[in-house]
This record gives sequence, structure tokens and C-alpha cells, in this order.
Amino acid sequence: MAMKVQLALLTGGSSGIGLAVATELVKNGASVILVARREELLAKAKTGLERIAAQNVFRVQIHTLSLDVSDANKVNRMIPPLLDKTGTPDFCYIGAGIAHPNHFEKITREIFQRTMDVNVGGTWNILSTVVPRMKTEGKGTIAIVSSLAGLVGTYGYSAYAASKFALVGLSQCLRNEFKSDGIDVKVLCPQDTDTPQLAAENKTKPDETRRISRNASIMSPQAVAKALVKELGSKKFLIIPGAMGKTGWLTYRLFPRLVYRKFDREVSYVRKRKATS
Ligand SMILES: NC(=O)c1ccc[n+]([C@@H]2O[C@H](COP(=O)([O-])OP(=O)(O)OC[C@H]3O[C@@H](n4cnc5c(N)ncnc54)[C@H](OP(=O)(O)O)[C@@H]3O)[C@@H](O)[C@H]2O)c1
Repeated sequence: MAMKVQLALLTGGSSGIGLAVATELVKNGASVILVARREELLAKAKTGLERIAAQNVFRVQIHTLSLDVSDANKVNRMIPPLLDKTGTPDFCYIGAGIAHPNHFEKITREIFQRTMDVNVGGTWNILSTVVPRMKTEGKGTIAIVSSLAGLVGTYGYSAYAASKFALVGLSQCLRNEFKSDGIDVKVLCPQDTDTPQLAAENKTKPDETRRISRNASIMSPQAVAKALVKELGSKKFLIIPGAMGKTGWLTYRLFPRLVYRKFDREVSYVRKRKATS
């Protein structure tokens, strides 16, 4: 890690990739603020991180805040007093997110709205409270978690990909907008990663989606976290952890029709099998 993080705020820091990032930071001596809804997960994460800090003989602070990031009023009410106490984070990881893959017709308006409210609205709400403080400090790093699905849309991910493409757009705008204020904005686009979210996705994933991703490798949250933390302080904007993700993105950029053709072939295969079974 080129940048020495003192205090990080992590939404979605109680589980999966967010917890792995928090772990990596604490191992390097950073204090963290974990934001998520479920208090029991937050408490478990705090205990685990305190143990890691003790092993490394670091006197770091582990703060937790139970908060739904999609609730702008609560974010505005709860984050500022906390930051008054802790100080301004020099790193903000925005990873609170949800995914409910399914056929377009099976994704209700409510699920679509909730996906946008948490993934995009939640990011907006948190940034609205943190960025003015970072600007006052004249420094800070922000990592917004999108997805490979925020770069290449695939079957079953219409609501999720809409939210994650929005985050790539938001990150691009903010990178440009905040650079001269000393704030570095990065966007993280992981491939499938072994977390509770992926396990939940597998319950509603259409067969066509499974077929398309059947040969895709799954990364560990620790590997994703390491790939992100390694780039803190670097000039890199788009962070795609893992060889499969990088190759997939490059292939899509160079030969988009090849990728579309492959996706379409996989869908036809599943549809034909269904028709004959
Ligand atoms: N796993 C993958 O394959 C994959 C791939 C690409 C991108 N991503 C993205 O990576 C990020 C982390 O996902 P993950 O896979 O690590 O999932 P995860 O283990 O399920 O973690 C999600 C985290 O977000 C929190 N969260 C969810 N909704 C929230 C809300 N409304 N307010 C506050 N916190 C909320 C969860 O805690 P509570 O539920 O207790 O609030 C949890 O801490 C997400 O943005 C996801 O879309 C994941």
C-alpha cells in the first residue's frame, strides 16, 4: 500500500469484500468506521478486527454504525456527529450494495427501485456527508464499488447492472471534479467474488446467466481487497482485480461483437434445451 491510511470509512464493511478491505487496512495500522445495517454482523466484524489489531500491536480504533445508507435523512443525521468525533477519514470505501438477478419480467419495480436506492442513492448520500470534509482537509481517497457488471451488461442483471453502470459514470465525473481538490476517486469492478451476496444471487440467477458465467473463476474477497489496497496512492482509476476480469474487459473493449455473440449463443443453448426437455 503506497498510501498510509489513518482512518477509513467503509460502507458494507461488515461482510464480504468490505470486511476484507477493512481487515487489510487494520493489518496496516488504520482505524476504521464500519457502516452497515445488521448490528450483529457489525459487532462480529469489530471483534475480529480488534483481535487482528491486537496481534499486530496496533492501537487502532474500530467504530461501527448501524445505518441504512439509502436513507438520506438518517445518513445526514448520523454520519456528521460520528465524524466530528473520529475526524475526517482519509479513505472512504463505498461498498454497501445489493443484487437480485432474475429475468427482466421477474424483477419488480420495487426491487429495481431498492437496487438503485441502495447502490446509487446510498453512494450519493455517503459522499454528500464525507466529500465536504475531505475538501476542507484538501486530501482523501474514495473507492466506489461497481462491478464487472457495471462495465459489461449480461443476462439477468438488468437492475443491478443499471445501478453499477451508474456508479462507473458517477465515479468518472467525480474523479474529474475532485482531482484539483486533492481527492482521488477510484472505481473497483470485481468479477464474481465468494461472499454472502454471491450466495444470495445464486438463488435467483436464471439458467441463462449461470450458463454464461459457467467457466468464470470466482475470486476470494481477500484477493479483491488486496488488489484495491495495493492501488491506494497510485494513479489508477479503474481497478479490475484478477486476470479473468481484466481479460474479459479487454476482450469486450477490443471485440464487443465477439462477446455479444458468445452471450447470445449461451442463451440459445439454454432456450433450446428447455424447449426439448
Ligand atoms: N460478490 C460479488 O461477486 C461481487 C462482484 C462485483 C461487485 N460486488 C459488489 O461489492 C460490494 C460488496 O458486496 P459483497 O459481495 O461483499 O456482499 P456482502 O458480503 O453481502 O456485503 C454487503 C455489505 O453491504 C451492507 N449493506 C447492504 N445493504 C445495505 C444498506 N442498505 N445500508 C448499509 N449497508 C448495507 C451489508 O450489511 P447489511 O446487510 O447488514 O446492511 C454488508 O456489509 C457490493 O457493492 C457488490 O455489489 C460484489
